Amino acid sequence: MQGLADKVVIVAGGATGIGRGTAERLGAEGALVAIGDINLPGATATAERIAAAGGRAIAVEFDLSDEKSIVDLVQRTIDEFGAVHGLYNVGADLRPSNLGRDTTLLDTDMDVWQRTFEVNLFGYVRTIRTVLPHLLADGGGSIVNTSSGGSLGNDPMHVAYNASKAAINQLTRHVAVNWGAKGIRSNCVMPGYVIGELQIEQNDTALQEAFVTHGRTTRLGRPSDLASVVSFLLSDEAEWINGQTWYIGGGSHLRQ
Ligand SMILES: NC(=O)c1ccc[n+]([C@@H]2O[C@H](COP(=O)([O-])OP(=O)(O)OC[C@H]3O[C@@H](n4cnc5c(N)ncnc54)[C@H](O)[C@@H]3O)[C@@H](O)[C@H]2O)c1
Repeated sequence: MQGLADKVVIVAGGATGIGRGTAERLGAEGALVAIGDINLPGATATAERIAAAGGRAIAVEFDLSDEKSIVDLVQRTIDEFGAVHGLYNVGADLRPSNLGRDTTLLDTDMDVWQRTFEVNLFGYVRTIRTVLPHLLADGGGSIVNTSSGGSLGNDPMHVAYNASKAAINQLTRHVAVNWGAKGIRSNCVMPGYVIGELQIEQNDTALQEAFVTHGRTTRLGRPSDLASVVSFLLSDEAEWINGQTWYIGGGSHLRQ
């Protein structure tokens, strides 16, 4: 892939799953990767895998719900690599204690709404607000967010999660509309069902079967399916792609 070598990219949520897979792909493409996560051992393991494959990466503990930790993550990145050129927002609060209690409007407690928006949406607002001035000062850069196929509206459950993800789609467009002419690209991936560490642990075979049955695909998603698309969007090869929300999910949603 052209245009990723020596680019400094922050992966905000790279300890496991799609974030880890993408951080590894970016490292393999020659990017300098700062892996932020609330799970420091996981982020460190990702950085070690990148280093073992010949790449360069650092791991930094941060929390999407804590503004100061985000400022520290960005500063740490600049201190280590001298700049920041790209941001991949991928973290979300998927814990059973939060997402597991996120059902329908009538049954979902307000604390679930608050936590979900605090991390999933406001976390991305905070990371973008912190990184954007650096990108603008540098003449441009690329931001990729992660929402979900659930944001498209067919999931009867997870009301707070899906609302937070639909808001991320709009946040993505807002940034492209306002700063595209200043060299900022802002795009979003909406994953279908992707099997990472969390999904292996949950082992929801009914959901896995349903996804393949209702998809136009022979298999479930892998973190590498997202890693390739996100790396492309962060690279110079995607220079003319801005403000887009792409569903990456084996064709189970067909969009114009
Ligand atoms: N895997 C799927 O099937 C799927 C489907 C649709 C959307 N997504 C989205 O893709 C993204 C990655 O999901 P995944 O399946 O790889 O899950 P994951 O749990 O493996 O990855 C999420 C990462 O976010 C981190 N995180 C959680 N709370 C955080 C916080 N407060 N601050 C900083 N980091 C925090 C976790 O530690 C973890 O490393 C999420 O945004 C998720 O909503 C995943």
